[in-house]
Amino acid sequence: MSNKLALLGGKPIIDKNFDDYNTIGEEEKKAVMEVLDAGKLSDFLGSASDGFNGGKWVRAIEKSWCEYFDVKHAVSMNSATSALFAAVSAAGIGPGDEVIVPPLTMCATATAILANNAIPIFADVDYKTMNIDPESVEKNITPRTKAIFVVHLAGHPADMDPIMELAKKHNLIVLGDNAQSPGAFYKDKNVGCIEDIGVFSLNCHKTIQCGEGGIAVTNDDELAFRLRLVRNHGENCVKGFGRAELNILGFNLRMTEMEAAVGYHQLQKLGHQNKCRQELAGYLTQKLIENFDFIEPPHVQENCTHVYYLYHMYFNEEKAGIPIEVFSKAMDAEGVPLFTRWGFPIYRLPIFQNLSAAGNSGWPFKSPFYNQDISYPDGLCPMAEKSETDSIFIETMVRWPQTTSDMDLIITAINKILENKQELLSAEL
Ligand SMILES: Cc1ncc(COP(=O)(O)O)c(C=O)c1O
Repeated sequence: MSNKLALLGGKPIIDKNFDDYNTIGEEEKKAVMEVLDAGKLSDFLGSASDGFNGGKWVRAIEKSWCEYFDVKHAVSMNSATSALFAAVSAAGIGPGDEVIVPPLTMCATATAILANNAIPIFADVDYKTMNIDPESVEKNITPRTKAIFVVHLAGHPADMDPIMELAKKHNLIVLGDNAQSPGAFYKDKNVGCIEDIGVFSLNCHKTIQCGEGGIAVTNDDELAFRLRLVRNHGENCVKGFGRAELNILGFNLRMTEMEAAVGYHQLQKLGHQNKCRQELAGYLTQKLIENFDFIEPPHVQENCTHVYYLYHMYFNEEKAGIPIEVFSKAMDAEGVPLFTRWGFPIYRLPIFQNLSAAGNSGWPFKSPFYNQDISYPDGLCPMAEKSETDSIFIETMVRWPQTTSDMDLIITAINKILENKQELLSAEL
């Protein structure tokens, strides 16, 4: 067999499409048909009535979520983006407030803050886990800080103990974006459920999905009620519940019955999916350590479990003697879907660089409520920037239904690249 690199016209090591990840089974199909047959595609009412909390499947997924994650309240929404917005809103955060957030996250974590007219303040990350660094959080606390937003990135928990201590010391709310790490543990606790409010995603890319969907969880009765008000026309409903909040703007962020039915059955599969990811990742990590000194496999902090939403690695260009972009392209051509440059840190997005999030006034960065100089220059979070430069990751291959033989092919592809290094480096790409 020719050993010519696929990038240079040879035959790829892998000829398989890893995008095929269909965990939808007979249970989901049957439940969806049941909803369609009944004709009640949503059973919500935007008033203070029994319908305020939705229909059969919405209630079923919420109950099941509480049991699975050992949390008191679960409030389903139509996306994690909606749930993140609702979390900030339910926490009473608004104009003039600062929320500390990591810059290695999907933009929705930070835009949830902006959408509530508050200011995201980016704290740096711990390079190894890519999650928010408690020391950097502490340095960024000001009299305007109202909350810390942690993100459990790529399947690995943020370092919660020091975060919760800081929050207690400075009387801050802790919000969590757990879109990427459902089922991961920090010590003996489910991540997303340690925070005052945590948010999960059920979008179609996630470990379990219902197309589009999100769940906010909390152990606090009052926060749960406020989350439900934001989800479902709160301003219209609040009086009917004998309450007189003046600051609740509600929306229609409701999950439909079909999504809830699918999500309910998907949740029952989360444990199995995570176990498959952990077994494949464990195998691949061992092989990478044994064979290569220029790839650092995912770090797992003591007392944490990793659920490998992404299989993230650091690539040492100097040790490999190959530029990271060239290596990534060569791997991709061999059939290993490997990525680099995911567009982080998010403060490089135009909305932060131009300081303009609504209209042309510079709101909320420039406002009478926020009389501070704010900017998001390069160098703001050096570890986050270095992480972006050094990262390579696999999104679709280290998961069910792949097997350890597929992991072996990753090793074969790397070895093929090393064997053809000189040719690769002298090629005009
Ligand atoms: C970390 C993180 N936060 C938020 C979201 C937004 O989730 P959704 O698409 O459910 O709104 C995502 C989705 O990719 C995510 O990865």
